[in-house]
Amino acid sequence: MKKLFAAFVIAALPVFAFANEAGVHLDEVDIDLTDKAGMQDGARTFANYCMGCHSAKFQRYERVADDLGIPHELMQENLIFTGAKIGDHMKIGMQVEDAKAWFGAAPPDLTLVARVRGTDWLYTYLRTFYEDPSRPLGVNNEVFPNVGMPNVLASLQGRQYIGCKQVQVVEHGKKQFDPLSGTPITHEACDQLVIEPKSGALSEEEFDTKIKNLVTFLAYSANPVKLESQRIGAYVLLYLAFFFVFAYLLKREYWKDVH
Ligand code: HEC
Repeated sequence: MKKLFAAFVIAALPVFAFANEAGVHLDEVDIDLTDKAGMQDGARTFANYCMGCHSAKFQRYERVADDLGIPHELMQENLIFTGAKIGDHMKIGMQVEDAKAWFGAAPPDLTLVARVRGTDWLYTYLRTFYEDPSRPLGVNNEVFPNVGMPNVLASLQGRQYIGCKQVQVVEHGKKQFDPLSGTPITHEACDQLVIEPKSGALSEEEFDTKIKNLVTFLAYSANPVKLESQRIGAYVLLYLAFFFVFAYLLKREYWKDVH
């Protein structure tokens, strides 16, 4: 009996790995910490759309500029709105007490959020705000039910709500295709996130890329040393390659007389 139970638990593990508190499936995102252009775009989105409420107080503007290859003047002009100096930490002016009164919860610091929540969670969270008139701010979220954060990216994404759309039929975990024509078999489901066409400034793909860049920036921010180690790693390899030449010449010199 115990063995059976253990077998069941082990078999169920992958299911738990994909689930979260609410049991919602998370969309996977492939994060590339060498994509500097993407991270610059993410940093811009973060400064423009998030730093009104969230700080990244364990991070300095200067470090971000240097790591992502943003010139200091550009950083100062385009990414610093708080009057802070380039050497300062990325703090904000909002007071915790005010924030609690306004949103019911204080917006947490986001420097390390990618480590706490994971990048798939962030990617899904930022794309699944939807209209919900029963909530005080008129929005809810798929992976963070009854969230206190307003849908700050609605102007880019457009109006998202729960509605009906055609989705591919899945049986026994496999997507179903018509055996003759090979086209996907679909059915109408009415618990789906739907975006009203042309209601946002970006298309769905453009918005997904924007969020991917933002999440990449947050992943970098939670682990800036990773970029540094990659850079140092490259120098170490270069050094080894260089050293190899001399080591080889030296070896030849030593063994010359032996043969
Ligand atoms: C108008 C203020 C405001 C803005 C702007 C804002 N947020 Fe939030 N955010 C909040 C509040 C308030 C919470 C806390 C929600 C709760 O606990 O119910 C929150 C929570 C979060 C969380 C969940 C943190 C956790 O682990 O619980 C993440 C992630 C997040 N915000 C990311 C962002 C990002 C990224 C942006 C920019 C695109 C952004 N926020 C812009 C107010 C804001």
